[in-house]
Amino acid sequence: MKNSPYQFINLDSFPLVPKGTEAWQRLVDIHKSELEARGASIMKSVIKQDILKRMTVEADAVVPESFACRDSHNPFLDQDDLSLSEDHPRRQKQSTSLNSIPYDIISPAHALHQLYNWEPLKDFLSAVLGHKLYKMADPMAALTMNVMNENQNHGWHYDESQVTITLMVQKPESGGIFECVPNLRNEEDDQYSKLGSILDGDQNGILSLPVEPGDILIFAGFYSLHRVTHVKGDQTRYVATLCYKDKPGVMNSAEVQQIFYGRVNQG
Ligand SMILES: [Fe+2]
Repeated sequence: MKNSPYQFINLDSFPLVPKGTEAWQRLVDIHKSELEARGASIMKSVIKQDILKRMTVEADAVVPESFACRDSHNPFLDQDDLSLSEDHPRRQKQSTSLNSIPYDIISPAHALHQLYNWEPLKDFLSAVLGHKLYKMADPMAALTMNVMNENQNHGWHYDESQVTITLMVQKPESGGIFECVPNLRNEEDDQYSKLGSILDGDQNGILSLPVEPGDILIFAGFYSLHRVTHVKGDQTRYVATLCYKDKPGVMNSAEVQQIFYGRVNQG
């Protein structure tokens, strides 16, 4: 068990092994109902502090190889729709500045790599989401560490996937807050008028999620508008995204890889 993700987890509060015990099922039920009711659930302090330090050191070592993503995008992350008026919320540009460390430069010896590949975590998250999850097949997007330094941010957007799973590894001195508007849109309605006022600075309905280092956030980012505010201070904000999909073999296109990682790796 030495150097196994088994030892990364605070098992007293998160009995992720063995699978299927009463305690395990209770935990699944808690996170499942929170996710359904609020569009987000946080596994508080699931990863031990010493492992977070190790993940930070391992990330620091590969930051020089990370990709600098400087993007201007609308909240839907899609093409600008020229048929709409210029002031339409759908056409409002958001700027994002962060660096990303893709999976193919994260060593299998690194704690984050081992955690992502640990079956008991995938089994637990599958049970919370109510369907079997598979590791994403994309050699870069499957696991990404987002790196944000002073004055970097992630603008308002919706995610492409229904549910996003992130692990906060290191928090900045201040700023870098994860803000969201739960279920702002739904299948039938993009709620453009509410979206417009939030993009114009209205604070109504915005929640700051209390995410701390060691927490895993399970977040329904497809319906909930969200952003990360500007980071302040010298300490880097490190947040990993663990990408699991509901079917095997899912890859990003070469075009999407080029945008997010500055190169193509189709495995
Ligand atoms: Fe997102």
